Amino acid sequence: MSLSHLIELAGGIDNIQRILVDDENYLTVSLVDEIKPTSAPSNVSLDNVNQEWQLTTPLQGDLDSHLIDDISNALSQRFSEQIKYIEVKKCPFRPTWHISPPQGLLNDPNGFVFHQGQYHLFYQWNPFACEHRDKCWAHLTSEDLINWKWLNPALAPTDWYDSHGVFSGHAVSKGEELYLFYTGNSRIGHNRKRQTTQCLATSSDGAHFKKHGPVIKQLPEGVTAHIRDPKIYFRNGVWNMLLGAQTDDLKGRLALYQSEDMLNWEYQGLLGDELGDFGYMWECPDFFELSGQHFVVLGPQGVKSNSQFDTNPHRNRIFSISEQNDSKFSFEQEWTLDYGFDFYAPQTTLTEDGRRVMVGWMGLPDDINQPTIENGWIHQLTMQRELIYQDGKLTQKPIVELEQLMSEAQAVTLGSDPIDIETKSFELTVTLDSHCTLSLMENQQYRITLAFDPDRQAIRVDRSQTISCSGDTVREVTQVGRKVKLAVYADNSSLEIFINDGEKVMSGRAFTPEDATCISLTGEKAEAVLRNIYPSIPPFSGE
Ligand code: FRU
Repeated sequence: MSLSHLIELAGGIDNIQRILVDDENYLTVSLVDEIKPTSAPSNVSLDNVNQEWQLTTPLQGDLDSHLIDDISNALSQRFSEQIKYIEVKKCPFRPTWHISPPQGLLNDPNGFVFHQGQYHLFYQWNPFACEHRDKCWAHLTSEDLINWKWLNPALAPTDWYDSHGVFSGHAVSKGEELYLFYTGNSRIGHNRKRQTTQCLATSSDGAHFKKHGPVIKQLPEGVTAHIRDPKIYFRNGVWNMLLGAQTDDLKGRLALYQSEDMLNWEYQGLLGDELGDFGYMWECPDFFELSGQHFVVLGPQGVKSNSQFDTNPHRNRIFSISEQNDSKFSFEQEWTLDYGFDFYAPQTTLTEDGRRVMVGWMGLPDDINQPTIENGWIHQLTMQRELIYQDGKLTQKPIVELEQLMSEAQAVTLGSDPIDIETKSFELTVTLDSHCTLSLMENQQYRITLAFDPDRQAIRVDRSQTISCSGDTVREVTQVGRKVKLAVYADNSSLEIFINDGEKVMSGRAFTPEDATCISLTGEKAEAVLRNIYPSIPPFSGE
């Protein structure tokens, strides 16, 4: 059956919501209409897959690319129409200086890059529901990394190779062209067979993107369809692509490809054997240099923790690496990027003045039950942090640009009587040297507590007295010293805690009522410095 007949059978292009091509043997269209089509000829099967009626037929000869393009264009037009109705859902938990989705679900930051005088930042976004499905790339630009402008989504899941999600990836600025590399995700049939391709889209105006389709279609040998999240970088005279991957025996690894022109990619092999069994899948690699040393960030999934206060199996790591001449490398020293409740899939960019700035998703893959879903949105990004490597020490600090949002500093003496600071968006800096518990975002019933134990040199953050959400309630970090210097950054429903000038960081969401604006400290009194953080320009204009 030809594609045109299939379209006719589907009730026309307007009744198609997805197009799928299974290993180039079968063509499937899924229908908008939820009512079962009356009949189908013998060479067309009719199935209800995940509440979608799908018509599938064997492919005869080449795909009619014009018709496929017609379907994709119709799907993108429909997506653009639907996006026009997006609104910023009002919610008391919405951050005022972090990026959050106007509605729907946000996850990984994507394509963070400085290009033609502007920062571009994209994120994984399901605009239509607080569910992990059918992601597009939301698109924001900024001149100062603080105030963001909202552009139309750059990439929507409207083609056969990305119809179940334009998954994560990175950007490359090359002259006037902005290259976006991403993983095309599609799921076939009742068993939702995963089909993965690595795709390219380019733009010459930084706003409108042309998809070029898959640049890598085949899976390398010994690797499952869990291979994704391309990071592209130029090194030793060639373009390199790193992908998070899973081997057939369910070990996480990185796959390396190389290219002369960013269009034709050759597989070079897997990296990371020296880490042995280190999770069943690695996601979202990043690669960069800090003070002459190269580093790789990755998100290993399923690494068991040996602490009851850190049960998160998906914790990002950063490794220093040692490179060989052919751009292959081995992993050396390991650091945990963030010890908090919610931090995953970070990306970095190089700023115009040479700083390495990281932003992450303040959420976790399995965590989709937060009180914001009642108001139609979920998750946010972290603040942007500069990564610094000096004398063998890796630290993070808030980007200096954040200063523009800070009020005058105010000295406060913290003690057991709660002080009402009348805001939940603030910076609090304090040094603690004895047993004590700091309560933040507090009212009579709710609070987040941070307990310091100098004997065990440990900090324990507890969100059990907050409005409940899924996920753990206690996180502990050890080896913080007998005296700790804290800088806490709060934004309505998030906390980012920098310990000892960013040697360790803990980030997480925590929900207390709007009037929970007090802070207090049990134990010895301490002198602290407080600054309010004013709202930035929100990255959504509702145009
Ligand atoms: C990480 C991740 C990526 C994938 C994306 C899909 O959170 O699973 O590996 O590309 O999210 O939204």
